[in-house]
Amino acid sequence: MATSANAEALNESPIPEAIAPKQNKQTIDPYNVTGEIGADGIAKAIDYSKLVEEFGTKKIDQALLERFERVTGKKPHRFLRRGIVFSHRDFELILDRYERGEPFFLYTGRGPSSDSVHIGHTIPFEFTKWLQETFSCPLVIMMTDDEKYLFSEKRTIEEVQGYCRSNAMDIVAVGFDPEKTFIFSDFEFVGGAFYRNIVRMSKMITLNQARNIFGFNESTNIGRIHFGAIQGATSFASSFPHIFGTDEDKTNLIPALIPCAIDQDPYFRMTRDVASRMYTSKGQHVAKPSLIHSRFLDALQGPGTKMSASVDESAIFMMDTPNQIKNKINKYAFSGGKVSQEEHRALGGDTSVDVSFQYLRFFLEDDVELEKIRVSYEAGELLTGELKAICIRELQTYVAGFQERRAKVDEETVSLFMSTRPLKWTGNPRAPIV
Ligand code: TRP
Repeated sequence: MATSANAEALNESPIPEAIAPKQNKQTIDPYNVTGEIGADGIAKAIDYSKLVEEFGTKKIDQALLERFERVTGKKPHRFLRRGIVFSHRDFELILDRYERGEPFFLYTGRGPSSDSVHIGHTIPFEFTKWLQETFSCPLVIMMTDDEKYLFSEKRTIEEVQGYCRSNAMDIVAVGFDPEKTFIFSDFEFVGGAFYRNIVRMSKMITLNQARNIFGFNESTNIGRIHFGAIQGATSFASSFPHIFGTDEDKTNLIPALIPCAIDQDPYFRMTRDVASRMYTSKGQHVAKPSLIHSRFLDALQGPGTKMSASVDESAIFMMDTPNQIKNKINKYAFSGGKVSQEEHRALGGDTSVDVSFQYLRFFLEDDVELEKIRVSYEAGELLTGELKAICIRELQTYVAGFQERRAKVDEETVSLFMSTRPLKWTGNPRAPIV
């Protein structure tokens, strides 16, 4: 669930005109993540409700969360409870299938644009891991090393292949089930059934469609134009015969559930359109992927800014030491507190713009504790320094847990995750594997 990784990638090189953001307007697509630019020239916070409308997705509402809990018997993840994972396409169809014991799989990905992974990158993976535990289903994780080469002016193929391997190690450290998870690099895995699906897809997308969806123009290199077919074809179970078998009349009926950041939606809007025009040899519709979208984590500088892998002060990185975390939060985390202690005590702080509070919404599990913090900060009882101390403690715990697992991931483990092998999978997510 990306990760504004793409947008970041472009921070590092001039934005080619073909994919430059629309002037001043909020622009969210795989290549740009920018809020509306105000009269003062500063980007405003991203308006997520507007995106739901513009993209034609559905808001995740209370009724859907209640149904989720009924069907899975599990309390919705804090990202769901707090509107961090906020939008979807056909998620209810996945719940229907789960209820009936019918197969589906999870698909997510990462563009390996650098070796620096920050807390914003791990969010979609944390959520995906939880979905995998909840549904006990197979998961494919696509590493788009090709994309990160095609969409950058300066990265070499060797460079992105290196990032791919180290990013895969970071992903493994999130804690995926090795028996149910396949991680692949596009450069390594394209071929066979996957490539057949890529070509099937590319044949069904005209240049006009790609231009309308992604904003390409005559100067865009053709690799970029084609790339959507690659990211899209991963949504089809028939691309993975080693997991789902070779009978395409059957595998083409197994849908993917794609957890991703909302900027990736254009790829899958296109994929869903293509899928609705694809049929099995028996005349059945090929399964359209379902989606579940997350919002972004703001940079330390506050709403309207985004974390960048190349700007150290913008983010907490997964390799930061406890001391670095403490210093970054204390020094850079945008505060919703008042200028003086007296004023803060009298008027209270603004949690809607306070970065430490926002990070706690993402990382603090306990709803009751979070609510207490909110009330107390807004009442002016809790001071900015105290709020920051709570945030620092939570982030230090989160990052230390990751580093401990990361230290145990060796070459052999990644190679296992990345090997083309059958997964432990009965075809029925509710049936135990014997
Ligand atoms: N394009 C994504 C990125 O740059 C990587 C990706 C590929 C992805 N397939 C995905 C992300 C599916 C989420 C879901 O980060």
